[in-house]
Amino acid sequence: MSGRFISFEGPDGAGKTSVLNNIRQALINQLGTQVLYTREPGGNQIAEQIRAVLLDKQNTAMDDWTEAFLYAASRRQHVVQTLKPALEAGKLILCDRYLDSSIAYQGGGRNLGVDKIWELNQYAIDGLLPDLTIFLDLPVETGLARIEKGRAETINRLDEQTVNFHRRVRQAYLTLQERFPDRIVKINADQDLNQVIEDVHRAIHARYDDLFTK
Ligand code: TYD
Repeated sequence: MSGRFISFEGPDGAGKTSVLNNIRQALINQLGTQVLYTREPGGNQIAEQIRAVLLDKQNTAMDDWTEAFLYAASRRQHVVQTLKPALEAGKLILCDRYLDSSIAYQGGGRNLGVDKIWELNQYAIDGLLPDLTIFLDLPVETGLARIEKGRAETINRLDEQTVNFHRRVRQAYLTLQERFPDRIVKINADQDLNQVIEDVHRAIHARYDDLFTK
């Protein structure tokens, strides 16, 4: 496979959407149709249908393992139908969340165990790991405060369960980064957005020097 695969990860409130919008536009300007932007859960019709079930606020009765299987199922469809063909066609993939989200949220956050979620997802990813993962990291309190901004309640009133969930998510991401320091680049997201964007650009250029020197 001749393409390249970058995933973007991070806890809620890290500014991933703003960062990705900028990076995506800049890379499309430089590389044109060679760039494929996609996301998880979702990325194609079947996977987006699974996304709708996962993110439906009415599905409060969803079992944690059901959730983990559905994320893995949407990922499998994404890998087979979208990601692998794009890599074979030589594209540069920008993927908003991938495997590490399941490790962090289901394995860590939901306490299902990072090793079990890793194992489950082997069936989904079929050997496909990103060659670069941009991990936007920031303290849990800062991320949650950003999300809560403008709402009546403050971070102090967020229930302990929510805060602890996000602590486990962050911890799982940090452990993953230590385990895969070559693949996962940690970016400090607790700084000015323009600085974060600049750091991400630098990380991508450092990894894919050849793409930008033509
Ligand atoms: P999304 O609206 O894309 O949120 P964000 O802007 O934070 O990426 O919803 C994705 C949500 O799904 C997010 O809260 C993280 C969660 N998620 C998992 O729990 N496991 C996974 O494997 C993936 C891909 C996402």
